[in-house]
Amino acid sequence: MKIGVFDSGLGGLTVVQAMTKVIKGAEIFYVADTQNAPYGEKTPEQILEYSLSITQYLIDTYQIEALILACNTATSSAIKHLRDMYPSLIIIGTEPGIKPAIEQTDTGKIGVLATPATLQGTKYQELANTLSSTKDVVLYEQACPGLVEQIEEGKIHSSQTKTLLENWLIPMKENNVDTIVLGCTHYPLVSHMIKDIMQSNVKLIHTGHAIAKHLLLLGESKGHSNAGDLSVTIHTTGDIQEHLIDDILDTYENVHKIEIPTA
Ligand code: DGL
Repeated sequence: MKIGVFDSGLGGLTVVQAMTKVIKGAEIFYVADTQNAPYGEKTPEQILEYSLSITQYLIDTYQIEALILACNTATSSAIKHLRDMYPSLIIIGTEPGIKPAIEQTDTGKIGVLATPATLQGTKYQELANTLSSTKDVVLYEQACPGLVEQIEEGKIHSSQTKTLLENWLIPMKENNVDTIVLGCTHYPLVSHMIKDIMQSNVKLIHTGHAIAKHLLLLGESKGHSNAGDLSVTIHTTGDIQEHLIDDILDTYENVHKIEIPTA
C-alpha cells in the first residue's frame, strides 16, 4: 500500500510514529509543508489550496492509495473537498479527540489546545457541541498561536515555550481540568511541559494510534495484507529541524529524507 501523509511541518510525524507501530508492508510518503507553516494562522481558503496541491503531488508522483491528513487544521478546512474530489482514495483526517476525553475524564473538566483555525472552524464547533451535550462536561478551549513555530524551530525544551504554555494553561489548572485534548499534531512534542505545568496526573489525548488502526481496517478491506517492510520517505517544502525527525520517529530506521522545492 502506498500512503501519502501531510502536515504543515514535522508535527504530523507524531501520527506517522503511531503508524509505524501498526502498519506493515507499505510505503509512506510524508510531506512537511514548512514553507507554508503555520497553517493554523492562515485562512481556510489558503489551507485548502495547500492541501489540494500536496494531494495532487502525492497522487501524481507516487500513485498513493491512501491519504492521511496528519493535521487537525487541514482536516477542518479541506477533508470534505478532498473526499468529493477523490472518491476512490482512502482519506483519513485528524480531529481533536474530544470523544475519548469525555470517556476518560473524572472531573468532567476537559481542556482543548488547538490552533486558532481549528477552533474557529465549523467542523470543530459542531463536533464539540454534539459531543459535549452527551455528558455533563465543560470544555476549556485555548488557541495556541505561535506554538507550532516554537516546535518547528526545535524549541521543545525552551523557557520561552514553557512561559507560553504556562499562561495558556492557567484556566485549566484553576478549574481542575484532568484531561487535555492535544488538538494539533505538533503538541504531543511538548507533552512533557504540559504535564509538568499541570503538576497532576493529567491525561493527554492525541489520536495517532486511532488513526493508524482506522487505516489498517480500511486498508485491509481493500486487500492490504499488512505484512512485510514499511518505509517512510520525508519531503519538505522549506527548512526543517532534521534532528527532530529522529527524535519523533525514535527507533524507526527505515527513513529516507528528500527535499522538494514546493509541494
Ligand atoms: N499539526 C497541525 C495541526 O494539527 C499544525 C497546524 C499549523 O501549522 O498551525 O493542526
